[in-house]
Amino acid sequence: MPIEVKNLNHIYSKGSPFEKTALSDISFKINDGEFVGLIGHTGSGKSTLIQHLNGLLKPDGGSVIVDGLDISDKTVNMREIRSKVGIVFQYPEYQLFEETVYKDIAYGPKNLGLDEKEIDARVRHVAEVVGLDEKYFEKSPFELSGGQKRRVAIAGVLAMNPKMLILDEPAAGLDPVGRDEILNRIKLLHETEGLTVVLVSHSMEDIARLAERIMVMCDGELKMFDTVENIFSRSAELSSMGLNVPQACLVMQGLKKNGIAVDDKIYTVEKACKEILRYLGEVGKC
Ligand SMILES: Nc1ncnc2c1ncn2[C@@H]1O[C@H](COP(=O)(O)OP(=O)(O)OP(=O)(O)O)[C@@H](O)[C@H]1O
Ligand SMILES: [Mg+2]
Repeated sequence: MPIEVKNLNHIYSKGSPFEKTALSDISFKINDGEFVGLIGHTGSGKSTLIQHLNGLLKPDGGSVIVDGLDISDKTVNMREIRSKVGIVFQYPEYQLFEETVYKDIAYGPKNLGLDEKEIDARVRHVAEVVGLDEKYFEKSPFELSGGQKRRVAIAGVLAMNPKMLILDEPAAGLDPVGRDEILNRIKLLHETEGLTVVLVSHSMEDIARLAERIMVMCDGELKMFDTVENIFSRSAELSSMGLNVPQACLVMQGLKKNGIAVDDKIYTVEKACKEILRYLGEVGKC
């Protein structure tokens, strides 16, 4: 499902001494079925921006167009927009509130007025998608580990059958195995069901591995929106915005600078290994 943002502005506490412009003149378009990474320093406006994509925040200027509809239009059904654009918040554990895991995941579909059978089918399906065993269904979400809580929160959003899934740091604070597991499942969902995904992350490695295009925010402005390759080739500019590039990029760029004829537009460890082996083979060292 495409989403378009035109000249979007957001000001917190307007007219008070604490007034803060969090978004300034942001415009972009995300195409149907894309996987977009959203990066930017702390306080650059990422969380503010995504809350505009399903109307949780109201623009102080500009517009947000979801599936061809301007969501500030009074005739637009906001419930429908929120079921189409699902957001998993930065600390999803705060999104949980029901007494059992099952009820928590079922909350959204229940509000949509679906019958028990359909709700049950959806809960079981999304639990499987996020890798959550049914043995947890009757537990309180608050008894679970951090990783399992994330899975419940993601399942609850997926149970609404969204066309676009926005995840704000879904893997932050998880151990490496748990975090790869969750991110790989999201990637699979994107690949198999054509789900449009926006992933906010501070991990350049995760973004490099998962995203097709990257948006770069800095001080409330959208500074870049381009392919992963093109973004990570601008390492000096990223560094001036307090961002780094994946380690694999630095290695390849460093080799190239030192006169070694390798492709420096590489950003994952796997591709870097292959390219270095190719080079060594070519020069007869391997
Ligand atoms: N509810 C609020 N009231 C006032 N100012 C806010 C509020 N929420 C965010 N801000 C400010 O707006 C700016 C953008 O914040 P936002 O949370 O969108 O950034 P972020 O890129 O998500 O940061 P992080 O990487 O730390 O999550 C920051 O300066 C922040 O302090
Ligand atoms: Mg944030």
